[in-house]
Amino acid sequence: MEQKSLIILIILTCLIAPSCGRELLVTHKDKQAVYNRTLATILVEYASAVYMSDLTELFTWTCARCGGLTKGFEVIELVVDIQNCLQGFVGVAKDLNAIVIAFRGTQDNSIQNWVKDLFWKQLDLKYPGMPNAMVHHGFYTAYHNTTIRPGILYAVKKAKEFYGDLDIMVTGHSMGGAMASFCALDLTVNHEAKNVQVITFGQPRIGNAAFASYYGKLVPNTVRVTNEHDIVPHLPPYYSYFPQKTYHHFPREVWLYNLGLGSVVYQFEKVCDGSGEDPDCSRSVTGSSITDHLNYYGVDLTFIRWRSCRIVMDPRVEEYGKTDDKGNIVLSRDPATLVPRMNTLSNGREATYNA
Ligand SMILES: *[C@@H]1O[C@H](CO)[C@@H](O)[C@H](O)[C@H]1NC(C)=O
Ligand SMILES: *[C@@H]1O[C@H](CO)[C@@H](O)[C@H](O)[C@H]1NC(C)=O
Repeated sequence: MEQKSLIILIILTCLIAPSCGRELLVTHKDKQAVYNRTLATILVEYASAVYMSDLTELFTWTCARCGGLTKGFEVIELVVDIQNCLQGFVGVAKDLNAIVIAFRGTQDNSIQNWVKDLFWKQLDLKYPGMPNAMVHHGFYTAYHNTTIRPGILYAVKKAKEFYGDLDIMVTGHSMGGAMASFCALDLTVNHEAKNVQVITFGQPRIGNAAFASYYGKLVPNTVRVTNEHDIVPHLPPYYSYFPQKTYHHFPREVWLYNLGLGSVVYQFEKVCDGSGEDPDCSRSVTGSSITDHLNYYGVDLTFIRWRSCRIVMDPRVEEYGKTDDKGNIVLSRDPATLVPRMNTLSNGREATYNA
């Protein structure tokens, strides 16, 4: 009897759990956001690759994390903000028929310190043009007030001129997810992009409820993936008793979690409600894990050289590069030209961020 119910349970599990090879696609009538698991597992590889520090390998898409599901990606622009230890790229994924934009945020000292700081962050900036919307100044400026934004916007324009009106997919992990959200909103509000899709992984809260509501209306095709007990989506904290002061996530969360049955662990993926703060998703657990923050869908989301905001660059890609007076680097390629191929790499020049 017991065995029979276990079999039923396994069958039921297989019907909903993607680990049994079934696509999990859930549409909600109130919002357009569709969770497309296949797409999430592709975009998480872009969010992982943007952590790579060898700019040559990244620009030519030959890095260790540039194979797999992202194979054939053509980078158009790689922007490195040396001062603030930020990185982003824009390119074209022909298999997705889309422009893909990925961001990497800073966690230069240690992720523990970065996480600790987030506990105390106040909403401290009015989002322009949206009454009552408040956002996190640091995340906002990382996208809006650095080398990153002009570099990204220029590349999107170039890509559209060459390829026509492709879809735009924006992604990022952790603080990179926060930057991806601001970028998607910027493209929609200020650059008339209509087909913007966002999938972020383990991103923190970035604004208040008013901001979340604007965001949800303007960029409805957004999925914010959270994983198990990942601490970062719980930060800055949500204080339900202080509705005027609290940060509030925008929809739509998809929570990945495991349930153990005896010695077997089943993976589940829950598409959460449209509030952004579904109490039955990641908020149902204590956010206490950094390990759960650093791996999504089995993909590693860490710096290759931990705690070092370093870059390496081969002299041969320097002809594609521009460096400003602060040392920030933009590597840029005309979409009409071939992707540079560099098989044997010489020892690259090494530079350090925040020197
Ligand atoms: C999910 O995404 C993949 C990759 O972009 C795409 O091939 C597939 O058609 C999408 N599925 C749906 C139902 O949109
Ligand atoms: C952006 O940078 C400029 C110049 O450094 C500064 O004056 C401005 O206040 C910054 N804006 C924000 C929102 O931090």
